[in-house]
Amino acid sequence: MPFLASRLDRIKPSPTLAVTQKARELKAAGRDVIGLGAGEPDFDTPDNIKAAAVEAIRRGETKYTDVDGTPALKQAVVAKFRRENGLSYTPDQVTVGSGGKQVIYNAMMATLDPGDEVIIPAPYWVSYPDMVLLADGRPVSVACRENSRFKLRPEALEAAITAKTKWLILNSPSNPTGAAYDRAEMKALTDVLMLHPQVRVLSDDMYEHLVYDGFRFVTPVEVEPGLYDRTLTMNGVSKAYCMTGWRIGYAAGPKDLIKAIAKVQSQSTSNPSSISQAAAVEALNGPQDFIAAHNAVFKERRDLVVEMLNAAPGLACHRPEGAFYVYPSCAGAIGRKTPQGKTIASDDDFVTYLLDAEGVAAVQGSAFGLSPFFRVSYATATELLREACARIQRACAALA
Ligand SMILES: Cc1ncc(COP(=O)(O)O)c(C=O)c1O
Repeated sequence: MPFLASRLDRIKPSPTLAVTQKARELKAAGRDVIGLGAGEPDFDTPDNIKAAAVEAIRRGETKYTDVDGTPALKQAVVAKFRRENGLSYTPDQVTVGSGGKQVIYNAMMATLDPGDEVIIPAPYWVSYPDMVLLADGRPVSVACRENSRFKLRPEALEAAITAKTKWLILNSPSNPTGAAYDRAEMKALTDVLMLHPQVRVLSDDMYEHLVYDGFRFVTPVEVEPGLYDRTLTMNGVSKAYCMTGWRIGYAAGPKDLIKAIAKVQSQSTSNPSSISQAAAVEALNGPQDFIAAHNAVFKERRDLVVEMLNAAPGLACHRPEGAFYVYPSCAGAIGRKTPQGKTIASDDDFVTYLLDAEGVAAVQGSAFGLSPFFRVSYATATELLREACARIQRACAALA
């Protein structure tokens, strides 16, 4: 009898964490490596948020809290949804977990039976399919091509829905493409969903605040209130508030689902860190002006990266609406030969070549379910990004 569970054979370790780890190891071994794999802002957590955590420790808020969040944080989440999204929830419709990742995982564990299908537009955040698989569900990947700017088309959504579809996971702005749905695009999708009452929507709004050029973010329930009773609207403090290490994510939705999520959490981690919860209250209720300041920097970096990658022979890069990623095509490099005589046959080969030849660590598109592309995170100092893009240009130019 094997010791390790067979369910582990269905999944793989997170490829994005693997790239970050590999870049770290190469750097520690003395190689000059620029990591473009990170999924976190390079800005520090704002001081007022840190101070709120210190205060919480001083006040003795160091004990277990309610399993799915303190009343103060749930209230702050209720206020956030009302203020920023025009959505009305009560605290018992809110759940808080140790990161958005845990909230999504719990939602899948709480709702999926063997054979239940979850529609996941590709390219997707690497964890969605594996979370579905761990919960015994069946991920149904729907390719969203470059010519639709990597966005799910209503016809493709309609075609993917079956009697077994339990969820659609929507992520806007997207990791890994940065693509975000405007109101009309979102309405076209919610119109399809209104025809299929068995389908629930998990809206992953983690990058809500990271949008550029005056783009107006929308979430499905805001566009179609008819979806209120079957949507879990998920968000967190990791990205906008530069709090990836604090591990706080949250969601709002129907009470029965929120209770089921709490049941899963009660038998795994219990409450998220009491101190991080106090910090998240300050993040949501406190000053928000640093977000615009960060976005000005991100926008400048996005434009720099898009321009420099488009100047690299064999690459083509869209300018996305949000997040801190771009997803360039490396189709023009496929079939070419490296100076060492190796043929680039896939995006996996291409990113391996970038790392070996120029010490640039990016993530292959195959990890996100759509090839031949690669993901570049521009949450890195501007000068390093400029140098990384110059190296990518040099690597591309050296292909024969
Ligand atoms: C699309 C998306 N959703 C959710 C998460 C989870 O974020 P966290 O668990 O840090 O809240 C991430 C993190 O990379 C993400 O990119």
